Amino acid sequence: MANSLLTCAILLCFLTLTLEVRDGSGMVKPASRACIIGAGYAGLGTARYMKDYGVNFTVFEATRYVGGTWRFDPHVGTDEDGLPSFTSMYKHLRVNTPRQTMEYTGFQFPNGTHAYPTGECFYKYIKLFAKEFDLNKYIQFRRLVTSVKWVDDHWALTYTKTDTKTNHTEQCDFVAVASGGEFTAPVWPKFEGQETFKGNIIHSHDYKDPEDYRNKRVLIVGAGPSGLDLAIHLSNITAKLVHSHHLRYHEPFFSDTYMKKPDIKMFTSNGVIFQDGSFEDVDNVIFCTGYGFTYPFLDKGVGVEASGKFVLPLYQHTVNIRHPTMAFVGVAKQIFMCVREAQADYVAALAASRFQLPSQETMMKAWMRALDLKGRRLLDVNTIGTEMDTYFADISKEAGIYRRPPVLANIREFNARNGLTDLINFRDFDFQLIDDYNFKRWYNPKKGNSCPIDI
Ligand SMILES: Cc1cc2nc3c(=O)[nH]c(=O)nc-3n(C[C@H](O)[C@H](O)[C@H](O)COP(=O)(O)OP(=O)(O)OC[C@H]3O[C@@H](n4cnc5c(N)ncnc54)[C@H](O)[C@@H]3O)c2cc1C
Ligand SMILES: *[C@@H]1O[C@H](CO)[C@@H](O)[C@H](O)[C@H]1NC(C)=O
Ligand SMILES: *[C@@H]1O[C@H](CO)[C@@H](O)[C@H](O)[C@H]1NC(C)=O
Ligand SMILES: *[C@@H]1O[C@H](CO)[C@@H](O)[C@H](O)[C@H]1NC(C)=O
Ligand SMILES: *[C@@H]1O[C@H](CO)[C@@H](O)[C@H](O)[C@H]1NC(C)=O
Repeated sequence: MANSLLTCAILLCFLTLTLEVRDGSGMVKPASRACIIGAGYAGLGTARYMKDYGVNFTVFEATRYVGGTWRFDPHVGTDEDGLPSFTSMYKHLRVNTPRQTMEYTGFQFPNGTHAYPTGECFYKYIKLFAKEFDLNKYIQFRRLVTSVKWVDDHWALTYTKTDTKTNHTEQCDFVAVASGGEFTAPVWPKFEGQETFKGNIIHSHDYKDPEDYRNKRVLIVGAGPSGLDLAIHLSNITAKLVHSHHLRYHEPFFSDTYMKKPDIKMFTSNGVIFQDGSFEDVDNVIFCTGYGFTYPFLDKGVGVEASGKFVLPLYQHTVNIRHPTMAFVGVAKQIFMCVREAQADYVAALAASRFQLPSQETMMKAWMRALDLKGRRLLDVNTIGTEMDTYFADISKEAGIYRRPPVLANIREFNARNGLTDLINFRDFDFQLIDDYNFKRWYNPKKGNSCPIDI
């Protein structure tokens, strides 16, 4: 049923797409004014390359800060300016891929930084990047973009100033959307009886600190990156930790109070009944049920279909095929940070007109072929995943940008394997890139989480 609905959706979408795309050229003139939405990792990367390539640009950032989701914010739900919180960072988080795969090109962490730094350390790194490349002066903070529309041959970008609450519209020739990707909008499940539950339910987006759960009876729902990570962080703090999920993996020993349960059947007032009929009483529930896309500011007429699960049609996972003067940075799924970084370069090169796109028809054909080749479900249309190195080769050839080396994909494979076979200790390694193809790693269970960045 779900499948046939999806097929239907795909067909509908193909139909409208094929009808709408004229054989327009993918020509993008050098932007006399480019606008970047968001000053997180992706937006700052784009700003750096636009600056390098001589583009006249402005970054619009909703909060008062750079760093996006990497900034820990003690406010829950809404931030100090009344905006829905844009960060999902929590205490003691450590990154889940080696820092070498997260670094901006040519801007390494200081020697001595842990291979898997804390979230706090990564945030410092991003702030240092903005400072070193002198990007802050291009950023207009406290501007929440509320609408992007195509009007009379340019983009009209409207934002609300969060201090005065006034609305303003500016013109842009080029728009880079860097307001977050697949880990942005919390996805909430809905279970029978949920409203009768007397305890507290949150999404991992609002989880901050293990201390909030000391000696509590806690249920974690889901075993994606957040669910597994919180299982580690909470197992020795809670009175009881129930973990409901259906992931098959090499489960480590968490603690004596940890118990694995199948999926949820229903809530009661004081606990949860699982699919196997068993019951557990709990005080707190944390839905680690993942995130999706959200671009509430995109007008219907911009030419991309955006849902929580996909954004389409995009050429090279970035360019809005119907309006090639709009591009997305960091929207692709299952990517390492270095992919966002490469996309920032590609998109800035496009805004600077350092290369020309193929015609819209050719881009659309390429997009459909990619979908077709993999017999892909629409849900996977944004996924790069294991194709990371091919992608680096493609976009660098097309745009004449630096080719990110294959060694990054080699690390990706190793990390993906190791993360699930040794969940608790997989970060106890250090890495060194030897050349474009090879890396060295060695066991190094440093406990200090050293982060020699002062900012
Ligand atoms: C808890 C968590 C842990 C993660 N851990 C890792 C990890 O270990 N390794 C890894 O590679 N990735 C990790 N990720 C993925 C993470 O999404 C990326 O690392 C990265 O931060 C994405 O950067 P970004 O710039 O695309 O988005 P964000 O960091 O979300 O930045 C988007 C920026 O846009 C601003 N913005 C949003 N909407 C608007 C608007 N309408 N107007 C103006 N500004 C706006 C926001 O305020 C924000 O500053 C993690 C994600 C989460 C949620
Ligand atoms: C750069 O953009 C600003 C803001 O729109 C504009 O005022 C200025 O004229 C532009 N500069 C150039 C050289 O195009
Ligand atoms: C770290 O050390 C290596 C080897 O000594 C050196 O090549 C590299 O430039 C250093 N990196 C930084 C950021 O200092
Ligand atoms: C500004 O825009 C927002 C979002 O579109 C709207 O809700 C609000 O009413 C506008 N405020 C003013 C003062 O026009
Ligand atoms: C919890 O503590 C026990 C006993 O010290 C230890 O064996 C286990 O690894 C800890 N769990 C985690 C997830 O760190």
